Amino acid sequence: MTFGIDDLPVRDELRGKSPYGAPQLDVPVRLNTNENPYPLPEPLVERITERVREAARHLNRYPDRDAVELRTALAEYLTRTSGHPVGVDNVWAANGSNEVIQQLLQTFGGPGRTAIGFEPSYSMHGLISRGTGTGWISGPRNEDFTIDLAAAEKAVAEHRPDVVFVTTPNNPTGNAVPPETVLALYEAAQAAGPSMVVVDEAYIEFSHGDSLLRLLDGRPHLVVSRTMSKAFGAAGLRLGYLAAHPAVVDAVQLVRLPYHLSAITQATALAALEHTDTLLGYVERLKAERDRLVAELRALGYEVTESDANFVQFGRFEDAHTVWRKILDRGVLVRDNGVPGWLRVTAGTPAENDAFLDAVREVKKEQST
Ligand SMILES: Cc1ncc(COP(=O)(O)O)c(C=O)c1O
Repeated sequence: MTFGIDDLPVRDELRGKSPYGAPQLDVPVRLNTNENPYPLPEPLVERITERVREAARHLNRYPDRDAVELRTALAEYLTRTSGHPVGVDNVWAANGSNEVIQQLLQTFGGPGRTAIGFEPSYSMHGLISRGTGTGWISGPRNEDFTIDLAAAEKAVAEHRPDVVFVTTPNNPTGNAVPPETVLALYEAAQAAGPSMVVVDEAYIEFSHGDSLLRLLDGRPHLVVSRTMSKAFGAAGLRLGYLAAHPAVVDAVQLVRLPYHLSAITQATALAALEHTDTLLGYVERLKAERDRLVAELRALGYEVTESDANFVQFGRFEDAHTVWRKILDRGVLVRDNGVPGWLRVTAGTPAENDAFLDAVREVKKEQST
């Protein structure tokens, strides 16, 4: 027997748990982690190189601890795209929105406190909760994956969680949460708490609807979290950020590690933000491809959950994992999120989506013969 995790004195809540583990397989078509399929355009690669070269000259010094230039650029991006004024003191940035979520849980969760999410949803909300010693409550959803508001309000009133997660558009299901539902949950959370409501908008740029940034005014317990991993096509950069009342930005600084955002990261993100319009052009292409996937999967007779994201949940399968494997055997990696009967495919390039649709057609034909 080899010495393993369970032989170490790890914290009780981590015993028997698995780490986040979307497979990173070397297959021709990878449509499993909601990445943007378009590599960064060459002029942006050039600009990153320039900015990073300049930053490299100062790597003997710690980076700007408060990332003011970057937060200013992010605030400008949010203001421009939402029409809602967002200032530098409303914005905080970290290494991916996962780190933003971790800092929020370190600040507002922790031992003796709880967080709730409405599942199926982004699994890291629960995993980071456990990692920060925050108790995790799995809230309900309807059969069609919309949030069951009455049940959700009841759960919030009953458990009085310290942090409420609402993911819109939701991952892995793809559907957006109506603003009225978020507002009702905010009210319920304030009546029970007051607790923090974190709206995870990782996929908002792909949505038919608007960002909930406009709800921030007068709601100091509301946080909107965002990422450059999806719409900006920069998953490898690791840059997430939040918008909230300035007091929230001050509060997360109590837990952030000093100089958490490297000078290289800040320089690269600033370069990407200079090319926002080009990158948002790719988002439009991906939205069209997402809509094509929805239409073609439905035409093949599959059920498809309404999608406001860069991915599509489709089913229903008696044994989703077997179908996942058969699609993989044809060189296309999609995601089995463990939602019984359903799989998720990320919108890729037109050629990748064609390859996926061909694979699905073949699997369907094989199953009906
Ligand atoms: C809903 C949601 N939030 C956050 C993230 C994490 O993004 P990041 O790459 O910024 O850590 C993801 C990534 O898949 C996600 O689906």
